[in-house]
Amino acid sequence: MADIGKEPVYKTDALIEEDIEAYLETHQHKTMLRFITCGSVDDGKSTLIGRLLYDSKMIFEDQLDALQSDSKKVGTQGEEIDFALLVDGLAAEREQGITIDVAYRFFTTEKRKFIVADTPGHEQYTRNMVTGASTADLAVILVDARKGVLVQTRRHSFLANLVGIRHVVLAVNKMDLVGYDRSAFLDIVQDYREFAEEVGISSFTAIPISGFKGDNITALSPNTPWYTGPTLIDHLESVELSADEDLAKSFRMPVQWVNRPNLDFRGFSGQITGGTVKPGDPVRIVPSGKASTVKSIVTFDGELDEAQAGQSVTITLEDEVDVSRGSVIAAADNPPETADQFESTIVWMADEAMLPGRSYWLKCAAQTVSCSLQPPKYQIDVNTLDHLAAKTLDLNAIGVTEMVTDKPLTFLPYRDDQGRLNKALGGFILIDKITNQTVAAGMIHFALRRSQNVHWQAMDITREARADLKNQTPKVLWFTGLSGSGKSTIANLVEKRLHRMNRHSFLLDGDNVRHGLNKDLGFTDADRIENIRRVGEVARLMTDAGLIVVTAFISPFRAERDMVRAMMEDGEFVEVFIDTPLSVAESRDVKGLYKKARSGELKNFTGIDSPYEAPESPEIRIDTTSMTAEEAADRIVEHVLGW
Ligand code: ADX
Repeated sequence: MADIGKEPVYKTDALIEEDIEAYLETHQHKTMLRFITCGSVDDGKSTLIGRLLYDSKMIFEDQLDALQSDSKKVGTQGEEIDFALLVDGLAAEREQGITIDVAYRFFTTEKRKFIVADTPGHEQYTRNMVTGASTADLAVILVDARKGVLVQTRRHSFLANLVGIRHVVLAVNKMDLVGYDRSAFLDIVQDYREFAEEVGISSFTAIPISGFKGDNITALSPNTPWYTGPTLIDHLESVELSADEDLAKSFRMPVQWVNRPNLDFRGFSGQITGGTVKPGDPVRIVPSGKASTVKSIVTFDGELDEAQAGQSVTITLEDEVDVSRGSVIAAADNPPETADQFESTIVWMADEAMLPGRSYWLKCAAQTVSCSLQPPKYQIDVNTLDHLAAKTLDLNAIGVTEMVTDKPLTFLPYRDDQGRLNKALGGFILIDKITNQTVAAGMIHFALRRSQNVHWQAMDITREARADLKNQTPKVLWFTGLSGSGKSTIANLVEKRLHRMNRHSFLLDGDNVRHGLNKDLGFTDADRIENIRRVGEVARLMTDAGLIVVTAFISPFRAERDMVRAMMEDGEFVEVFIDTPLSVAESRDVKGLYKKARSGELKNFTGIDSPYEAPESPEIRIDTTSMTAEEAADRIVEHVLGW
C-alpha cells in the first residue's frame, strides 16, 4: 500500500489549488463538476470512489497489480479488487478505519472532468465536510441498502444543503447484498424523501448501485432491470453546473489586487464571481459608490471583448476612481450592499470554543475586517435540526449568531430570497488573530437594519483641541497583571503624581467599574472579554476628551489587550505589565480570594483555574519583586511624560 499512498491521485487540502490549475490546463475544453461524497465509514464510500477512478481509467497498470496483491492480503475473495484499498491511502485512515480531512481526487470521462472531495463520515468531522462541500455542485449521499436512512444521512443532507449544494444524489449502495431488491430501494427512497423536504432539499436523484460490483455506475446493470434512470456517471456527466447559474447573475468582481506596473497602467485584478462584462459596461465600485465605465479587460493572452463568471481578469476603468483590494466592481444597476452588522450561520472549526466578544479576522472575498460575535441566538442539532440554547459554539457546532465588523463589509446574502446562492460574497471564514488559524466558516443571512441607521456625528471641537486645552498628550496606561499583583496600588500612585504635575487624568479600576458600568458581568472568559471591551471604549472616549487614562484590570487575554491597543491612536496605548509571580500574589492574598479559589469556593479565578496570558512585549514591565510601588510609579511617570 505504501506505493499506492504516494500515487498522484491522492491529494490533500494544501496542494489543492495548484493541482486544480494543473488539472484544468490538461482538460481545458471540458466542463468540470465538483462533487462531494458523504457516507459513514461502512457505507462503502471509498469503494465507490475507487470504482469511479477505476472505471474512468485513471488507475495505471502497475497500481492495479499492487492493488490486486494487496486485496488478497486482506482476504478479499477471488480476484475481485477491493477498491477501498485504493482510496484509503492515508495512513491515519487505514489505522483508525475512518477517513480524516478532505482528500481531493481527480478523474475525467469523455464528457466531463471531475473533482471529488472525499470527506469523512464520522460525526466529529463536520468541519471537513463543510470544507469539502463549500465548493461542490453536487453531493452523493451514500446509504447502505441493508441499513437504510440513518441519522448521519440526515446530517449529511442538512450540511450539503446548508452550504448550498444544488444537486443531491441518493446512492443506495450495496444493492448486491439485498439481492437487488426493488422494494428495498423504493422504501429507502420514500424514507429519504420525507426528511429531504424537512432539510430543504426539494429534489434529488436516487440510484441503486453497488460500488463493489459496479452496478449502475457506468452502465445500467442487468441485476436491476426495474431501474430505468441514469447511471451514476451519466448523471454526473449531465447535471447542470453552478457556473451556469453564476453566468445568469449581475456582473461583479471582488478586487484581489491593484495592478500598477507603471504610471500609465492601473488595472484591477480578480476573479469574476457573477455575470459577464464587456468594455463600455457601466459599473459601480463598492464601497465607495463611485461610478465608472469598463475601459478594457486584460488577460495574459491579450485583451478580451467579453469575460464571464469564473474567469480571472484585470479590468481597467475610464475614470480615476478609488479602488483598492477588497473593493467590488459591480454592474452599475445592481451593486452589492455594505453593512457592518450581520446575522450569519457559523460552523465552528477550532478546538477552542467560540468566544463571544473576542475579535477575529473575517475574510470575505478579498476583504479582511475585524469582527466580533454575539453569543449564539441558537445552536442547530445537525441530527434532529432542533434549535438548542447555547452560550458558545464548540468544535463542529453550527449556530446562528449576530456579528459586528469594525469596517463596512461589501456582501450579498449567501442565499437570497429567490434561493440564488452567492458563495463568493456571502461566505466567509474567521481567523484567530493570535494563532492565525481558521476557526470558523460562515454564511451571511442579512444585514441588521440598525447598522444602516447609526452614523457618526461630526464634532466641531476635535480631540486635538481638547488635548491642547489641557496642554497634554492623551495616553492610556493599561495596567495588566494577576489579582493582587499591585496594579491598583501602583496605578493610584501614578495618578497622584500626575495630578501633582497638573496633568488631567482618570483612573478606571476593575473592582470599581464592576460595581457600576459592568455590574452585570462575572468572570467567565466571555464576560471578561466584554469587561475589557467596554473599558476600552470608555478609555477611548476619555482620550478623545484629552485625558491621560490609567486602567487597572487583570485583562488576562492578549487578544483583548491588543484589541484595545488597536482602538487607540498610534503610540497612545502604553501596556504596563505588573509582573508579580503567582506565588507572591497568592501569599499576599489581600482580599482572601486566592484562599477561596484554592478551596474551590470561588470558580474561574485568574492564575488558579482561569488563564493569564502575560504580555510578550509590553511598553513597561514592572518587576514588583525588585522595586517598591513608589519606585514603580516613578518609572512609569517618567516613561509617560518622556523624561
Ligand atoms: S478581568 O479579568 O475582567 O480583567 P477585573 O480586573 O475586572 O478582571 O476584576 C478583577 C477583580 O475582581 C480581582 O482583583 C478580584 O478582586 C475580583 N474577582 C472576583 N472574582 C474573581 C475571579 N474569579 N477571578 C479574578 N478576579 C476576581
